[in-house]
Amino acid sequence: MPEPIAREAFRVEGGVPLSGTVRVSGSKNASLKLLAAAVLTGERCRFTNVPEIADVDVMVRTLRDLGVVVDHPAHGTYEVAAGDVDWRFVPLEAAAQMRASFILLGPLLARFGEVIISNPGGDRIGRRPVSLHVDAMRALGAEIHYRYGYYYARGRLRGGDITFPIVTVMGTENAILAASLADGRTTVRPAAQEPEVDDLIAFLRAMGAEVERTAPDTIEVVGRRRLRGASHAVIPDRIEAGTFVAAAAVTAGRLRLEGAPCEHLGAFIEVMGRLGIGVSCGTDTIEVDATDTLEVGLDPCDIETGPYPALATDLQPPTCVVLTRARGASRIHETIFEDRLEWLAELVRMGADATVEDAHHAVIRGPTALRGATVEIGDLRAGASLILAALAASGTSTIHGAHHVGRGYENIERKFVELGARIERFAEGSPETTS
Ligand code: EPZ
Repeated sequence: MPEPIAREAFRVEGGVPLSGTVRVSGSKNASLKLLAAAVLTGERCRFTNVPEIADVDVMVRTLRDLGVVVDHPAHGTYEVAAGDVDWRFVPLEAAAQMRASFILLGPLLARFGEVIISNPGGDRIGRRPVSLHVDAMRALGAEIHYRYGYYYARGRLRGGDITFPIVTVMGTENAILAASLADGRTTVRPAAQEPEVDDLIAFLRAMGAEVERTAPDTIEVVGRRRLRGASHAVIPDRIEAGTFVAAAAVTAGRLRLEGAPCEHLGAFIEVMGRLGIGVSCGTDTIEVDATDTLEVGLDPCDIETGPYPALATDLQPPTCVVLTRARGASRIHETIFEDRLEWLAELVRMGADATVEDAHHAVIRGPTALRGATVEIGDLRAGASLILAALAASGTSTIHGAHHVGRGYENIERKFVELGARIERFAEGSPETTS
């Protein structure tokens, strides 16, 4: 049974412009798929620059429950050896803690010809069905039945054409993982173009897989009978990097990000530019200077999320906090998830002027001076964004549900404290929560 989640909260004193240097951690959304990909071989795989976050712990625990050996020799380094996977069952507990456990469908089915895996269900940002993943496995010849919340999948996979009705990141990743050991050629279209997908492709190729992006939205795979172990350094986390750029923007601060993937943040940096936030890119650094924006203010900016290379839906919440500082109305069109604007109600508690018009549209009017309040985190990215709002706000905020943020941000409060922020984490129910 998974450990009970420690209910913790953040206490934030706002009003301090952030300044200094912060190192960006490895990508959560690349690491989870890379760790799962190691199941495609019985040989040892080594990953470095893996973020030390709760979701990685869940994936490691889930792999160990399958009988996979996972060593953790150093900070950010994991070695995976899936020699004896004798238990091809991914239980509800894993899926309940982390949807991404469903990425194990492809590699387990492709390598062992059978797997029972829990339907991960939805979360606070949307219904999030996995029917497209299941259809992709069926297109590769698998037989899949659904009973009592579980998918029962079996069959020897063969190459095929996978055409998705919409772009799906993990659907694309599950398809190429499965196709890597299938007999024959597979074409995936429209294939997600997220940098995390290309990081997975790079690792698969290092394992000896024949997988290639043959057009921006097309990936072709020729299955192999066996793959070998390999080593891989995970790409930096563009969503964490974007979150820190937004932190500088909302506090009128000045930051230098090191180990930052500027080339993966094109659409976001373009939005920051339209707002009036200066962002400059180095080889693997990002400099953002918002110190002059207190006088000149920010321009309103309509934003629309979409599949890469459009603006990432995971950067919609942090960008919304920046929009509260703009002079005028900014329209938000969230095209990916149908419940990802609901968190704005918590921002309104802090004094924002935000109206959710329907499941995919909202308007934020500014400039509004945010003020400290007691708010509740519903999901990972909204959580990080409420911290940003509290850092920009006057007074003190208490942010409940800190565990959500630990799922995807490594040591976020320590990183902020090193940039001058006044933030601390405390256990719910301790005397401080009464303040
Ligand atoms: C990945 O989720 C990321 N998660 C998400 O990040 C990210 O928001 C999302 O891609 C979009 O960029 C991980 O990589 C672990 P999708 P994924 O399949 O793959 C619908 C974060 O905060 N859909 O691309 O699950 C779906 O409901 C997380 O780090 C179906 O309808 O997203 C959504 O509307 C949140 N049927 C759209 O497609 C399916 O079978 C895109 O979702 C699959 C998806």
